[in-house]
Amino acid sequence: QSLLPTGYTFRSLRRSDYKLGHLDVLADLAHIGDISEAEWTERFDYLAKCEGTYLVLVIVEAGDDEHEEKRIVGTGTLVVERKFLFKLGIQGHIEDIGIKADQQGKGLGIKMLNALDLIAKEVGCYKTILDCSAKNEGFYIKCGYDKEGTEMQHYF
Ligand code: ACO
Repeated sequence: QSLLPTGYTFRSLRRSDYKLGHLDVLADLAHIGDISEAEWTERFDYLAKCEGTYLVLVIVEAGDDEHEEKRIVGTGTLVVERKFLFKLGIQGHIEDIGIKADQQGKGLGIKMLNALDLIAKEVGCYKTILDCSAKNEGFYIKCGYDKEGTEMQHYF
């Protein structure tokens, strides 16, 4: 927490965060489409029921009153996969990292990654993996990641 600049805090995504602009941050990452608050909340509830599997972390910018939350400016997800391989190993998947365009370059992205990696380690993951575009490789290398493997995809 203290690692973030003054005026920003980390916390888990809350059921009320549709109103605080969670989707606005993701919109800088990829196409979102029209999602109503009810649809967003249904997905939130589903993730919450999968106990210990989805952790969505957000960075919130404070308002003029430091106790007031102005908007979400960053988000990132850790998906915890429980495997049979590696003696029932637990592997972390980092997904949907996004820092609001006007807040990029302030070190928030690297702090998001460090926080998700710390949580992954604490819940017992032996490693975290992620897919990214070539233009973001340098960012993830700065976050301590090494390039490995080949990404494949199959659209339906
Ligand atoms: N390529 C190379 N280096 C980079 C890049 C990049 N694309 N972006 C940041 N860096 C460097 C910075 O210069 C900084 O280096 P320094 O410590 O030497 O000064 C370091 O990485 C940390 O940068 P931050 O300020 O923490 O990065 P930022 O807060 O801007 O977040 C992010 C980076 C998440 C890629 C942001 O630009 C973003 O949200 N982009 C749009 C969405 C996106 O592409 N998300 C990643 C999708 S992949 C996934 O989710 C697994």
